[in-house]
Amino acid sequence: ARSIDLAVIPGDGIGPEVVDQGLKVLSAVLPGDVKLETTRYDLGATRWHATGETLPEAELERLKGHDAILLGAVGDPTVPSGVLERGLLLKLRFAFDHYVNLRPSKLFPNTPTPLAGRPDIDFVVVREGTEGLYVGNGGSVRTGTPAEIANEVSVNTAYGVERVVRDAFERAAARPRRKLTLVHKNNVLVHAGHLWQRTVDRIAQEYPQVTTDYLHVDAATIFLVTQPERFDVIVTDNLFGDILTDLAAAVTGGIGLAASGNINPTGAFPSMFEPVHGSAPDIAGTGKADPTATVLSVALLLRHLGYEAEAVRVEDVVTADLAERDAATPRSTDAIGDALAARVAG
Ligand code: NAD
Ligand code: IPM
Ligand code: MN
Repeated sequence: ARSIDLAVIPGDGIGPEVVDQGLKVLSAVLPGDVKLETTRYDLGATRWHATGETLPEAELERLKGHDAILLGAVGDPTVPSGVLERGLLLKLRFAFDHYVNLRPSKLFPNTPTPLAGRPDIDFVVVREGTEGLYVGNGGSVRTGTPAEIANEVSVNTAYGVERVVRDAFERAAARPRRKLTLVHKNNVLVHAGHLWQRTVDRIAQEYPQVTTDYLHVDAATIFLVTQPERFDVIVTDNLFGDILTDLAAAVTGGIGLAASGNINPTGAFPSMFEPVHGSAPDIAGTGKADPTATVLSVALLLRHLGYEAEAVRVEDVVTADLAERDAATPRSTDAIGDALAARVAG
């Protein structure tokens, strides 16, 4: 019999609210012969306040044993900024070597966009997930004095850049438009930028069918708004990818729709799926959070575990639900989750 052994980290703020909806849809879409087993991990602000722990080693070990992880969001105004983000979320991405941070962007029918007209937006950002400015390579001296110097150093290894660039080429080769855009800032960040460019140029020789392109990140933000249809697959570093994907979400119906997968393509560690958004303390507890991003992250999870038909089913159901949405009559988090689960089952 088939089975999915899923770890669930609801986390903080709206995290638990949206994760519940994702799980509803997951249970509803799985065929009867697939046994779904979920293990909830109590990690996040509450745990930190109670015990001072962010991610104990024993929990990390237990998490390793699951097929995949579904995460809501972490971060809370009562916890110093960075404690949970670095100590829990980034620790998981690094420990499980999630070097492909996959963030698809699509403008669904009937979803509002702040852009003029309705451009045909359908691209995917392959964001490097284990290096760059996120590694915590830095420090501050004379902290808190007028003479303070604070450094954050971006780490880019030939190994790390090559593996994510290869993954992006594979994805581009499998898409109809077969186009890969490297986004960086190689006019200023010459060391890292040139490594990325040389790597793309070298791997490109193995993929003659894929067209490659380069944009500086500042120009990329212009084109994301003025000509988003020019993008197919974007490959970029950890921080640029973070920023670009919030912008991409904003032009494709909002952050409540943006899904992501933190993927370890080798299968050595469980991959982790989560909405792009955070814990949204401003709307936590109000029922206003849109769970669709989490539901679409569940589709990415299903695809990763080999349940392609079920992944497509979830995406189709989201598309159908979005087609009927009316901004004048918003539904609660629960109501959207129930509607998606019912549609998936029916
Ligand atoms: P955020 O994404 O939580 O919120 C930004 C804005 O988007 C807010 O106005 C919020 O209400 C809205 N929003 C977010 N998700 C929504 C949803 N599903 N439906 C409707 N509206 C939604 O970003 P922030 O405010 O910068 O960060 C809040 C906290 O979350 C911080 O602690 C931050 O570090 C953390 N964070 C965590 C993750 C993560 O766990 N992956 C991602 C981003 C931010
Ligand atoms: C995201 C978030 C995280 C990131 C933070 C919370 C560490 O913004 O998943 O996009 O910067 O990667
Ligand atoms: Mn982000």
